[in-house]
Amino acid sequence: MNILITGATGYIASHTIVELQKNGHHIIGIDNLSNSSIDVINKIEQITGTKPDFYQVDICDYDGLKLALAGKKIDCCIHFAGLKAVGESVSKPLEYYDNNIGGTITLLKVLREVGCLNIIFSSSATVYGSPAFVPITEDCPKGICTNPYGWTKSMIEQILFDTHKASPEWNIVILRYFNPIGAHESGIIGERPNGIPNNLMPYITQVACGKREKLFVYGNDYDTPDGTGVRDYIHVVDLACGHVKALKAICDKCGIEVFNLGTGHGYSVLDVIHTFESVNGIKIPYEIVARRPGDIASCYADPSKSQKMLDWRATHTLQDMCRDSWNYQSKNLD
Ligand code: NAD
Ligand code: UFG
Repeated sequence: MNILITGATGYIASHTIVELQKNGHHIIGIDNLSNSSIDVINKIEQITGTKPDFYQVDICDYDGLKLALAGKKIDCCIHFAGLKAVGESVSKPLEYYDNNIGGTITLLKVLREVGCLNIIFSSSATVYGSPAFVPITEDCPKGICTNPYGWTKSMIEQILFDTHKASPEWNIVILRYFNPIGAHESGIIGERPNGIPNNLMPYITQVACGKREKLFVYGNDYDTPDGTGVRDYIHVVDLACGHVKALKAICDKCGIEVFNLGTGHGYSVLDVIHTFESVNGIKIPYEIVARRPGDIASCYADPSKSQKMLDWRATHTLQDMCRDSWNYQSKNLD
């Protein structure tokens, strides 16, 4: 299939392109390079032997998008492009709503014009807010998001439901990711955050390589087995494979469907630290500090719908994730 990938040079999209190419799909990638680098395209080629087509375009730019897609047959779009820094979204809400929601609306209009009514959207477990129950199934009610980033995901999901309701010929898959970490086993592509990492694993790898002195653990008084926050960490390659499987739902003319992409296992912050230390033989100094505003105690998926309907399940362990995260960081110290 010919697959349009927005946000193509980003962390999750680059791993997904590798898996799509392995499965024989042809990629047309677009990105405005606001949070990634063009050299990712060459790195993908280094891994797969095939260079994806790439256009530097902003999804908010209607004319630019139309120009890039003119005359191309697109079977499905996988829409990763978006701003994702939770803290930044609190200080720049208009930029986040404009980029993520405005960009998605522009993209949907252009897709409709070029005759592609198939889309897979990168949503997030953040739409469950403080979840009504764990493990979280897809029919768990959506919750109150604690930041504008989360609201952009929740609102885009609503826009997609409304789009499908008005035009049922659309096929839409909403993938709610849990906590992606890890990197391609080659260490050639991975997550490269700008500035001080917001997320746990990139912070740990920067402590491991000496770039930061110690990790701050945000609270040990949650109602969890060891008091620290529990999350469903998923290897980015497993997540990438979930997108390949989601294409099947699109081909089966699924209408609109929501799937959780998680492992079903919850690990605490201390579990992650200790696993990282034992797998990589590196000590991670840490200090327990106050809870981070907006954090929840526990968030992990019930992935049985994805297992059943997409024939997808995560196969990598937390050990694999810690090993591959460090492998990427240690090979990319600059
Ligand atoms: P990323 O920042 O590495 O990738 C996003 C890409 O989108 C970047 O390359 C960026 O340059 C591009 N982009 C942003 N705005 C754009 C625009 N207007 N036009 C064109 N390109 C634009 O992030 P990621 O971690 O790979 O996340 C991919 C998607 O998955 C995002 O939508 C994110 O919100 C979602 N998601 C990520 C996580 C996570 O923890 N990483 C969790 C849940 C959902
Ligand atoms: N944590 C620390 N210290 C840090 C960073 C994180 O103790 O320096 C803790 C957090 O308190 C939390 C856990 O590690 O208990 C995971 O935190 P992350 O920031 O890595 O991940 P979150 O679950 O907070 O959020 C992430 C993304 C969101 C996304 C969500 C669900 O940042 O955008 O996963 O997919 F919505």
